[in-house]
Amino acid sequence: MNAETPVEAIPTADDRKIGPVLMEMKHITLRFGGVKAITDISFDIREGEIRSIIGPNGAGKSSMLNVISGFYVPQEGEVWFRGARRPQMKPYQVARQGIARTFQNIALFDGMSVLDNIMTGRLTLMKTGLAAQSLWWGKAQREETEHREKVEKIIDFLEIQAIRKTPVGRLPYGLKKRVELARALAAEPMLLLLDEPMAGMNVEEKEDMCRFILDVNDEFGTTICLIEHDMGVVMDLSDRVVVMDYGKKIGDGTPDEVRGNQAVIDAYLGVAHD
Ligand SMILES: Nc1ncnc2c1ncn2[C@@H]1O[C@H](COP(=O)(O)OP(=O)(O)O)[C@@H](O)[C@H]1O
Ligand SMILES: [Mg+2]
Repeated sequence: MNAETPVEAIPTADDRKIGPVLMEMKHITLRFGGVKAITDISFDIREGEIRSIIGPNGAGKSSMLNVISGFYVPQEGEVWFRGARRPQMKPYQVARQGIARTFQNIALFDGMSVLDNIMTGRLTLMKTGLAAQSLWWGKAQREETEHREKVEKIIDFLEIQAIRKTPVGRLPYGLKKRVELARALAAEPMLLLLDEPMAGMNVEEKEDMCRFILDVNDEFGTTICLIEHDMGVVMDLSDRVVVMDYGKKIGDGTPDEVRGNQAVIDAYLGVAHD
């Protein structure tokens, strides 16, 4: 995308505001040795939308999220972010650009409290290094207070005040996933990547997580790219959906468009998965 790219809002059923293109994947191909995980996939993510990636197991969804997060470098294709082609970057550099993620398998520090786990999400934003902290501890202390305040806000928002001192290892699954979301939000991301945030949850936990995802999108204006298996959830949450199968893109559009796409029905909706 460049300055001349026309920017038109996508009309959606509930008329939520969707902005210009934030991220654009252009002809991405990713191989692991002989295995092609992603074959020539292009799609974009617009500011303010909830963009879902769906598809059967092994379709390449997590791989795609890992390309967006800078964890995998595709052999072919270009990643564009905020109007510029992104050079090859380390994941921490991508994080500094305002992209945060959660993982398909929970990646928290079990022995640490909820609060401290969420604080680690602020690391990419901390300006004062260790050396500077010992020299100018006044400044470092001010920074620390600011970080704590932001984190407390997120804790309130996600309704986890009661467990803020609890070691994460003791929490039930659904709450761990919520702490993971809190940690990702602590980085104040522009784009939030969620890899199956509701996998393994019971109905009530799923409903909670759905509500929090919608609230984050609504209240913080965070753009969200989400991988999810539960079709009901995907159809309810998403503004637009990318459908992958065997590493290829077989559908792209609003939930209604995707639902009516025969290739999608054949490849995904019609077959049992998981
Ligand atoms: N690190 C890896 N090394 C080798 N093959 C991988 C790796 N990650 C994923 N794959 C392969 O790439 C394909 C897509 O996997 P993945 O992106 O995890 O799919 P999904 O998330 O849709 O289930 C699969 O065939 C998988 O075995
Ligand atoms: Mg996956």
